[in-house]
Amino acid sequence: MTAIETTTVGFTVNGTPVAVRADHPHLLAALREELDITSPKDGCSPSGQCGCCTVLVEGRAVVACQTSLAKAEGRSVVTLEGFEDDERQRFAEAFAACGGLQCGFCIPGIVVRAKAQIDKKGADLTRGDMARHLGAHLCRCTGYVKVLDAIEAVAAGKELEASLPGGVGTSGARYEAGELTLGDRAYVDDIRVPGMLHAALHLTDHARADIHRIDIESARKAPGVVAIYTAADISGELRVGIIHTDWPIMIPAGGRTSYAGDVLAIVVAETRQQARAAAELVTVDYGVLRPLTDPREALEDPELAVWGTDSNTLSVSEYRRGEVDAALSASAHVVEETFRTQRIEHAFLEPEATLAVPDPARGTMHVYSGGQGVWDDRNQIASVLGVEPQRITVELVSNGGAFGGKEDMANQAHAGLAAWLLQRPVKCVLSREESLRMHPKRHPIEMAYRVGCDAEGRLTVVQARMIGDSGAYASVGMKVLERAAGHASGPYHVPTIDVRSVAVRTNNPICGAFRGFGANQAQFAMEGCMDRLAELVGISGWEIRKRNVIRPGQVWGPGQVMDDGCLGAERCLDEIRPDYDRAASSGRAVGLGLGLKNSGLGNGFKEHIRAVVRFVDDGTVEVRHCWTEMGQGVHTVALQVAVTELGIEADTVRVITDTTRELGAGQTTGSRGTLMGAGAVADACRAAKADGCRVGVDYEGEYRVDWTHHLGEVEQPVIHSAFGYAAQLVVMDPETQAIEEVVAVHDVGRAVNPLLCEGQVEGSVHMGLGYALTEDFPADAETGQPTNMTLRSLGILRAKDVPPMRVRLVECPQPRSPYGIKGVGEIGLVPTAPAVAAALHAADGLWRSQLPMKPKRTADQD
Ligand code: FES
Ligand code: FES
Repeated sequence: MTAIETTTVGFTVNGTPVAVRADHPHLLAALREELDITSPKDGCSPSGQCGCCTVLVEGRAVVACQTSLAKAEGRSVVTLEGFEDDERQRFAEAFAACGGLQCGFCIPGIVVRAKAQIDKKGADLTRGDMARHLGAHLCRCTGYVKVLDAIEAVAAGKELEASLPGGVGTSGARYEAGELTLGDRAYVDDIRVPGMLHAALHLTDHARADIHRIDIESARKAPGVVAIYTAADISGELRVGIIHTDWPIMIPAGGRTSYAGDVLAIVVAETRQQARAAAELVTVDYGVLRPLTDPREALEDPELAVWGTDSNTLSVSEYRRGEVDAALSASAHVVEETFRTQRIEHAFLEPEATLAVPDPARGTMHVYSGGQGVWDDRNQIASVLGVEPQRITVELVSNGGAFGGKEDMANQAHAGLAAWLLQRPVKCVLSREESLRMHPKRHPIEMAYRVGCDAEGRLTVVQARMIGDSGAYASVGMKVLERAAGHASGPYHVPTIDVRSVAVRTNNPICGAFRGFGANQAQFAMEGCMDRLAELVGISGWEIRKRNVIRPGQVWGPGQVMDDGCLGAERCLDEIRPDYDRAASSGRAVGLGLGLKNSGLGNGFKEHIRAVVRFVDDGTVEVRHCWTEMGQGVHTVALQVAVTELGIEADTVRVITDTTRELGAGQTTGSRGTLMGAGAVADACRAAKADGCRVGVDYEGEYRVDWTHHLGEVEQPVIHSAFGYAAQLVVMDPETQAIEEVVAVHDVGRAVNPLLCEGQVEGSVHMGLGYALTEDFPADAETGQPTNMTLRSLGILRAKDVPPMRVRLVECPQPRSPYGIKGVGEIGLVPTAPAVAAALHAADGLWRSQLPMKPKRTADQD
């Protein structure tokens, strides 16, 4: 008898015989949804492309979402929960001690794969072998370097012991590292509450279409369906948005869709499978319209791309210093080039998940969110429900990666609405495809540059014209293009500058925040111009950067007079010089990138950050801050500041982010968590000390950055309070164009935890190499629909393709910043793509101006 014909299927899990319903779509669903075994994570089911759900079947590592119950029947299935205690301990200690995890979502699957290999090969398991076996896995955070360090240590039988870090400046394991490694620390989808229902969304078939009618009758009759909601059920605001309130939670009948991720209905059912199956039965009568997919054409088109807006121009950012035409005429050399960057997907491995749990007796609701700003989530959910924000508590569940892609709400309001209307707990988890369709991406930007220098290679003028495709809804697209404009001249002093940057609304996928926030695109262009000028002048890439690097007292970009913090730029250059010279003189093709990226919001925004420290009678100390832990280590930063300021043991600290205290400070973006969180926690600790650290008292601290200016507000504005700097070197085989090594020198101001800081850089370089060479998220020009709808098609580099990396941290403290911190997450990949472009040019003499770039051999084959 086959599994399909039976009502249950039997196998053993971790040595215990089980019988599960036969209708699960795969083994992963049976493990997670029926047996509540949650160490195998669901990053992409049923496609089998991320490796997060890896388990052992008869001792062989397999992805459970590609394993049918028929294949599992009668077999032995082992998950991390079933490993021997000492083996669990060895992996947990090794990953924690080596810094082998960030968000942790991919790690349990990787540990299972590692065990299978170590069982086979023991100490003979080589790093290269293991990297090849990790081909079935994706990690978006670590760049695999420290993952492989940890596996090597376990294979070699090294007894590592992880310890929490001490105060600021000490290396140590990240907060909750052991639990994350073993898959024991719950993400939102791992949380179960009694009576919980599941919601699934019905998305539009067309990026731009009038919605004539939404028919839910067939779906309503489907098995397990409890309720179906459309926009007609929203009693509060239809639209949300972090800056502009233009993003409809659902499109009503009579409304119009504006991108492929628009939601038309929420289906609530007893199980996730039932909800998703029923969501497919919703039928919609569309009046299909021509989508506007070319941003240049959208600027001229009299038709509005986006329903409910009044212009296809989302924003214009511009500034000018000096006489550009005269400066260009007087320049000894001028480079004129148009650069284009591609749209990129964040590919965080945990798809968006929300669990909303109403309390009918109190008329309140508790929402577990993996978003990047719990206060924004709370306020927006409340606005959709039409209730006071205080009736909603949002608790952050540290998420499985975000990189900016979880700033906007995804399904928080949908889960919240369904739970509120039903007065029952509702969980909503996006499928990978829904995640790809719904959340904002990195902007594709077209950048026309004219850059001049004198005969010695000193910059005279930069002119830049940028057009960014922001997709349908605003998100933070105007800020990204503003940041691209601000960073247009890179980390250099330029006497004359003229920049104009336009964000355009189209019906393409929405673009918003993504690590680097516009700085990556602008500096790919600017660094490309620097290398072209260096060739015209006859000096090296290093030398032209040295002659122009920004120094204290000089005017930068939009007019900011830089302080001593900018010493970091030159320091990075000087530190990388020996590597640059050595590689160049040994005949390798070398490329250098130098970059800067602001931390915080700046631009005149008054940033007021709060934190609370509270001594509890069980001897622990709660540290409550405003920020989302998404693998970048902000909880560990908060812990280390508390240890520094209070002189307490690290293992007594408990870090919490929820909305029970009014600490709201917007999104966890731009290294705000590390820099400003540290300032606020330190202040709270000082308040506690001044009052004798009494038990049960909320000691509130704050950190303010209220001294920055809007562009044009004053003559010499402080646009940003801090910047991080980095120089990266790409060393390439001139014949094969294979990257042999990346050297990354980063000025972080102060490395709060050097081990974790290094890991941030490694992960960034991995992401940057993908950005440079392989990643893309295009949309069809006729339909506006994204065309790469699986993780595999995104072009993310696998472990075996990642070249060796050497990371060096330098510390040029930022004046006025807590402990001198500048932040590391944002700047990470700013210099990577330009460095790859320069190395490719050194290898084959071709200048590249478009991402992703192709090595010559591949380009010739096209
Ligand atoms: S969830 Fe199974 S491989 Fe991604
Ligand atoms: S630690 Fe691997 S995806 Fe985050």
